[in-house]
Amino acid sequence: MTKLFSPITIRELTIKNRLWVSPMCMYSCEGQDGIVGQWHLVHLGSRAIGGAGMVIAEASAVSPEGRISPWCPGLWSDDQIAPWKIITDFIRQADSTSCIQLAHAGRKASTHRAQSGSGTVSIADGGWETYSATSEAFEGLAAPKQLAGEKIAGIVEDFAQAALRAKKAGFDAVEIHAAHGYLIHQFLSPVTNKRQDEYGGSLENRAKLLLETVTAVRAAVGESMPVMVRFSATDYVQGGWDQTQTNQVASWCKDLGADLFDLSSGGLVTGVQIPVGPGYQVTFAKSTSAATSADVAAVGQITEAHQAEEILRSGEVDVVLVGREFLRDPYFGLRAASELGAEIDWPVQYQRGRWPSA
Ligand SMILES: Cc1cc2nc3c(=O)[nH]c(=O)nc-3n(C[C@H](O)[C@H](O)[C@H](O)COP(=O)(O)O)c2cc1C
Repeated sequence: MTKLFSPITIRELTIKNRLWVSPMCMYSCEGQDGIVGQWHLVHLGSRAIGGAGMVIAEASAVSPEGRISPWCPGLWSDDQIAPWKIITDFIRQADSTSCIQLAHAGRKASTHRAQSGSGTVSIADGGWETYSATSEAFEGLAAPKQLAGEKIAGIVEDFAQAALRAKKAGFDAVEIHAAHGYLIHQFLSPVTNKRQDEYGGSLENRAKLLLETVTAVRAAVGESMPVMVRFSATDYVQGGWDQTQTNQVASWCKDLGADLFDLSSGGLVTGVQIPVGPGYQVTFAKSTSAATSADVAAVGQITEAHQAEEILRSGEVDVVLVGREFLRDPYFGLRAASELGAEIDWPVQYQRGRWPSA
């Protein structure tokens, strides 16, 4: 019995294996209305057919101004529910499960899509004014406005409403994006949060937006649905956000109803040294696991079946998330099972192409 292809149950959801697709922006809502279409169905659906236990849909905005780019998807409007439902139905029929990453980009919003350059999209070209914990710009982007304290409750409510829509859209789980230098991370980190109000200063205050969001999202989705949180475990900056703060805040999130932590890193500022390499963020997941006893997911340059299996065999990581390997090969799940000799069900339509078990 492999660890990678053993099931995991979180609340009332059982996921058939521990090899999940990491959220990845596609910048492909061509109507610039946050509505997903054929690209998303084929992209996410292929990976469900390809053996992933869970497919996590990309950063999806809780408000129009929370989009990274005008081409990013969202769940701020009821009109966005039905197109997502087509995708979650397909993923379920393919014997997989679905999750959506709910996000607000803050000062990193209103950018060009990766396909067409960098920098801020001007208001004349369909962009918008951004806001953040701070009024300092992310390098290369327009300066945000510092968010007034009385507007913060509205953002928490946007996350809650989007989570409710995610449930209506058929998602099995939701993930709150608190990583990669987006709005919640901008509040968490002392590098970008120098506020004097109740959302700045102490760790408790900097974490307040996230903790209120976890509470509101849990209340919105009810008790049965898994709620996950993605953190950047470090800013790679002296005096910035780090593993110790991550572990403390994760443990508060757990007390408020979060189930699984997904440990990434960086993204808050440019110009830092990130020691990338195979499995380079696994130690972050192990640390949060030890500190919180919650389920954790490791991500980052996990590209091979045996590597993923070894990470899980440590007993300190519960799930592996795979990004780019799933872009190279949507059937990575089926291939990994064959390489590990795990007996899994293939899609019946694909049976004749089955790889022999190793
Ligand atoms: C094209 C692309 C888009 C991404 N978009 C997101 C995203 O929407 N949300 C997120 O948290 N991470 C995003 N990431 C980061 C991935 O989820 C993952 O953490 C990262 O690629 C490292 O894993 P890998 O080495 O397996 O690719 C993106 C990565 C790629 C390559």
